[in-house]
Amino acid sequence: KVKGAIFDLDGVIVDTAKYHFLAWKWLADQWGFEFTETDNERLKGVSRIRSLEIVLEIGGIDISEEEKLQKAEQKNEKYLQYIHQMDRSEVLPGAEEYLLQLRRRGVRIALGSASKNAVFILEKVGLAELFDAVIDGTKVSKAKPDPEVFIAGCEALGLEPGECVVFEDAEAGVEAAIAAGIYVVGIGNPDILVAANRVVSGLNELV
Ligand code: BG6
Ligand code: MG
Repeated sequence: KVKGAIFDLDGVIVDTAKYHFLAWKWLADQWGFEFTETDNERLKGVSRIRSLEIVLEIGGIDISEEEKLQKAEQKNEKYLQYIHQMDRSEVLPGAEEYLLQLRRRGVRIALGSASKNAVFILEKVGLAELFDAVIDGTKVSKAKPDPEVFIAGCEALGLEPGECVVFEDAEAGVEAAIAAGIYVVGIGNPDILVAANRVVSGLNELV
């Protein structure tokens, strides 16, 4: 029986991929190359600094380590401008209902996200109180597909991996859950999330 559920944030609970995309595109525009939504797929679930490296690779741009930190910071400032405007309407269909349903069934809930902005976003959309534990980019050092974030999630809930289920929209996240030994429900396209134990189009399919 499932005792714990660990949710990714971006693309599972909230629709923030579009803001990450706009902020990276804003940087790419400054460098003068095109950054497309298809390129953006590669950044899902990936840490901020690793995302920047992928963007630089796409543009064929080479900068110093110090400049990388500056650019990652600039991207985040731009992203923050977008997420400051967020409200409940950007919670994905079924997400809140499903979280409430799990809570009623006594399932413990954790967040397992790569984002350093996770707590801010959860508070902004009014879902923070539904989580028993939050493991985010400020708490882990190894990015998905490393299992660290999900193992920490199980520990924070006081549960074993075999008692939990992960919900993930990114390939890197699905891989991370599998490496942690946790059953994983992919959110999105079954042709992309082939490694997941089950794939649904959104949490609304589960309520
Ligand atoms: C993940 C997103 O959840 O968080 C990535 O899918 C993002 O696109 C990563 O780069 C890090 O987020 P942040 O908010 O710390 O820059
Ligand atoms: Mg995600």
